[in-house]
Amino acid sequence: MQLNQETIINQDLKENIVIEEIKVFAPATVANVGCAFDILGFALENIGDEMIFRKTSTPGIKIISKGLGNLPTNPEKNVAGVVAIEMMKNEDSSFGLEIEINKKINPGSGIGSSAASASGAAFGISKLLNRNYSTHELIHFAMQGEKLASGAEHADNVAPAITGEFALIRGYHPLDMIVIKAPKNLYCTVIHPQIEIKTKEAREMLPKEVALKDAVIQWGNVAGLIAGLHQSNYQLIGRSLQDIIIEPQRAKLIPGFYNLKMAAMDSGALGCSISGSGPSVFALSEGIETANAIKAAFDKVYFDKGIDYHLFVSAIGKTGSRLIQ
Ligand code: HSE
Repeated sequence: MQLNQETIINQDLKENIVIEEIKVFAPATVANVGCAFDILGFALENIGDEMIFRKTSTPGIKIISKGLGNLPTNPEKNVAGVVAIEMMKNEDSSFGLEIEINKKINPGSGIGSSAASASGAAFGISKLLNRNYSTHELIHFAMQGEKLASGAEHADNVAPAITGEFALIRGYHPLDMIVIKAPKNLYCTVIHPQIEIKTKEAREMLPKEVALKDAVIQWGNVAGLIAGLHQSNYQLIGRSLQDIIIEPQRAKLIPGFYNLKMAAMDSGALGCSISGSGPSVFALSEGIETANAIKAAFDKVYFDKGIDYHLFVSAIGKTGSRLIQ
């Protein structure tokens, strides 16, 4: 087409029309769950990001960042952006995509901030464009975002952020993910010290090899944890929630970690460990009363530490990313 002055002006003035818009909630998640490094995570209830997805008349991907963190708006550098780029490869280029991220989970918090953006994007784009992607396909897309954030394509945050409940990654090649329903009365208490730990760095510090005797203990705990979740056997969950490989390395990054852990256990926690790569620390308990007692105990430990912190109690999220009004 030949562009004359008039067409150029008309194109410049052409409005970017919103063809369709949806709003999505993407939950925060606790990955690793103590012993199950990179293979298990669960969703939190009502704690997460809100994202708006708009199909627009102007081709291209646009990111609007609101809320916490200073997220890059260049789609290639934004976790939701790289997911969008990947998903838009399968679409014709006659329309555009606008993603507005209202970040409520602090980046670097250890409760799946990047995973919420990545999973919310995979879920939201699929819904907006009426695509029938399977859960495994959505996880694959979301893993692209996680890779940008942490340098590794692990799915223990993104999977539960899509499915809700506990998500077990039995294998990565090919992806084999199983959803495990949480026992009814299982609650989680989280303390989030306001320091940032970059997942990439917290992964680089881990040992490349593990002694067989340690692996045997860890395998036993992972198996026990899964059996405990299946049987709603709270005592078995508690006995199994022990990480002898990763936690001792990363505990050094979290001020007062062992004091928090002791306070949680003294208050009746089933177990307590680092959420994801930290700095958040989580404890699981049977019943909301114990979860609230742990919250108070965490508060006491951190009260005079001179570090800001957030505390909350949550049930296990029944749903992952979902449409909201
Ligand atoms: N499994 C990951 C890790 C979770 O511990 O590094 C953090 O994103």
